[in-house]
Amino acid sequence: MLADRKILVGATGGIAAYKTPFLVRQLVEKKASVRVVMTEAAGNFVTPLVLETLSGNPVSSELFPRQFASTHHIELARWPDLIVVAPATADFIGRVANGLAPDLLCNVLLVATSTVLLAPAMNTEMWFHSQVQENCAKLEKLGYEFIGPEEGKLATASEGEGMGRMSEPDTIVKRIEEIFSERELLKGKRIVVTGGRTEEAIDPVRYLSNRSSGKMGAALARAAARMGAQVSFVHGRMSVEPPQNTDNFLVLTAEEMQKKLLELYAKSDAVIMAAAVSDFRAEKVSREKIRRKEHLTLELVPNPDILAGLGKSKKKQKLVGFALEAGGGLGNGKKKLEEKNLDMLVLNRADEPDAGFDVDTNRVTLFFPSGKKEEVPLASKDEVARVILRKLAKLL
Ligand code: CTP
Repeated sequence: MLADRKILVGATGGIAAYKTPFLVRQLVEKKASVRVVMTEAAGNFVTPLVLETLSGNPVSSELFPRQFASTHHIELARWPDLIVVAPATADFIGRVANGLAPDLLCNVLLVATSTVLLAPAMNTEMWFHSQVQENCAKLEKLGYEFIGPEEGKLATASEGEGMGRMSEPDTIVKRIEEIFSERELLKGKRIVVTGGRTEEAIDPVRYLSNRSSGKMGAALARAAARMGAQVSFVHGRMSVEPPQNTDNFLVLTAEEMQKKLLELYAKSDAVIMAAAVSDFRAEKVSREKIRRKEHLTLELVPNPDILAGLGKSKKKQKLVGFALEAGGGLGNGKKKLEEKNLDMLVLNRADEPDAGFDVDTNRVTLFFPSGKKEEVPLASKDEVARVILRKLAKLL
């Protein structure tokens, strides 16, 4: 699977660097060509000799080595098909997120155009520190891929278990194999993804909306583009940034979203409706701020069901819809799929703390017109997005 693939492994200074040799070994066993760049701090946890022996290539760590030309970092950056940094420490992530390059590995990343996969490893508090989270969000927006960290045993017994453990080498290798095999999965396909929440004005300062963060839609849009699709991401307001590898269109109301989708529909191969569209809007939008009073009745009228409309006028397009169910009511999945003339329906749970709105994970059930139903176990929204897109690719 990895034969002839050129992989540059970066190692930075965290305790998980003791596992980097296992990663290198597995990649070499799968016939990849591997070169290693390590930071000085990584040398506290693993020696260059171990990594040289296992990779079969010299290990680079100095920015200005005597034996190479001064453009060593450029040659190293242009060489690989993929770069994986495992472990990626909080400090390293901070440096890369801010475009700093005090060492060889950071310089390589600034020059590289290949996919970069980061495998963070750190203590739980450090991982959840707002600056680390911000740095990761920034890197994600810039197109860096992440694997982990995971829940599990941390470096010392006193730390115990928690979030922050680096993904195991075999999990990282599996992800690398997936990246290569899925690079062209949606090549040449035009895919429209919607995400986020719509807002329906009540008066100049208030609106009707919902708690959707836009994370699922953004994950789908980003992953579809990584799989080679030309992606239009039509999104309402979101709590996350839209991806950078997609054409993004901000719309505010359900009607604006519908208008943009109708423009894009004829030329698209698939539409994935992950947006949380407000089912109702105010019948009349007050021109002035509504003042406080004893009693207020708002008259609401239904918004168009955008997806059902697309289902009615569907030609070659494949349609994927989402539904939100509470109380374990899986029964509606099939009904909704049929009613809206969909090719796949993704049913979210609204009543579980680790799935649905505003969390990073999701647990979904997929419904198909054949009557087939598939459970996707709890996974990150990025992983759930990839599962949905793999299924969609088979339909296109
Ligand atoms: N949708 C839409 N236009 C609307 C409302 C929803 O296109 N006005 C889309 C959503 O993007 C989603 C699917 O339709 O893909 C959700 O359908 P819906 O019937 O609203 O399902 P639920 O969210 O489960 O809501 P309900 O409780 O109303 O059944």
